[in-house]
Amino acid sequence: MRKKIVAGNWKMNKTFSEAEELITEIADQLDGTKPENVEVILCPPYIYLELATDIAEDAPYSVGAQNINDHDMGAYTGEISAQMLIELNVAYAIIGHSERRKYYNESHEFLAGKVDSALRHGIRPIFCCGETLPEREAEKYKEIVKTQLYDSLFHLTPEQFGWVIIAYEPVWAIGTGVNATPAQAQEMHAYIRKLIADKYDPQIAGETTILYGGSCNSKNARELFAQADVDGGLIGGASLIADEFISIIKSF
Ligand code: PGA
Repeated sequence: MRKKIVAGNWKMNKTFSEAEELITEIADQLDGTKPENVEVILCPPYIYLELATDIAEDAPYSVGAQNINDHDMGAYTGEISAQMLIELNVAYAIIGHSERRKYYNESHEFLAGKVDSALRHGIRPIFCCGETLPEREAEKYKEIVKTQLYDSLFHLTPEQFGWVIIAYEPVWAIGTGVNATPAQAQEMHAYIRKLIADKYDPQIAGETTILYGGSCNSKNARELFAQADVDGGLIGGASLIADEFISIIKSF
C-alpha cells in the first residue's frame, strides 16, 4: 500500500551511547506529535538495531537494516541475514544503496538475490536506484534506473512487488548538499511509476511507495514531498540530528 514514509539512513555513524541518545530523543520528540499518516523508519548500523527495536516497543517508528546478505545462514563471515533480522522485529532493509554498489561492487544480480531473501522472511526492501552525474549529463538517467529496476526487481511476482518500497537517490545528490530539484525528482518518480505500470499494472504502480533521497533536509523536504509522485524521503546526514529529522517528518 502506498504510504508516506520518512526513513533515516544513519550509514556508519554514531557510537553506541550516541545512538542510544539519538534514538531516545527521536522517540521522545515523536511521542504524541508524529503525524498519523507518516511512517517513520530508523536504519541505524546493525549493532544498534536491537537497541532501536527495544526502545521502539511503544515508540512511533519502525526499524530497518542498511543491508542484508542474500543467503539465510551459512559460512559467510561477517554477514547478516534477513532470517536473523526478522526475529529482532526489523521490518525493512535498504537494498542497493549506491555506496554499496560502488564500494562493495554489488551487482544487479546480487541485489536481486538480496531482495528475494528479504521477501522470503517478510522484510520489506527499500530498494535504491539512481544515476551518477556523468550519466545524468549524458541524458542516460532514465535508462540507468530502468536497468536497475528490471535487473533487480522486475522478476518479482505482482504480490511480491507489493512489498517493495523504492527510493530514487541520484548519486550526485547524496551527501553533496545539492538535492535534485523538485521537478527533477518528480520527473523520475513519475517515470518509475510508469515503468511499474508497464511491467505490472497501473493499480500496482499507483500503490507503490517511492521515496526521494539525496541531500534532503528540513529546508527542501516540504517542496520535494509536495510533488505528486514523491511519497517521502530516505534521509542520510539530516537523520543524524534529531531536530532536523523531526522537522523533515513534519514536512508533508
Ligand atoms: P544524504 O544521504 O541525505 O546524506 O544525501 C541519503 C542517502 O544516502 O540515503
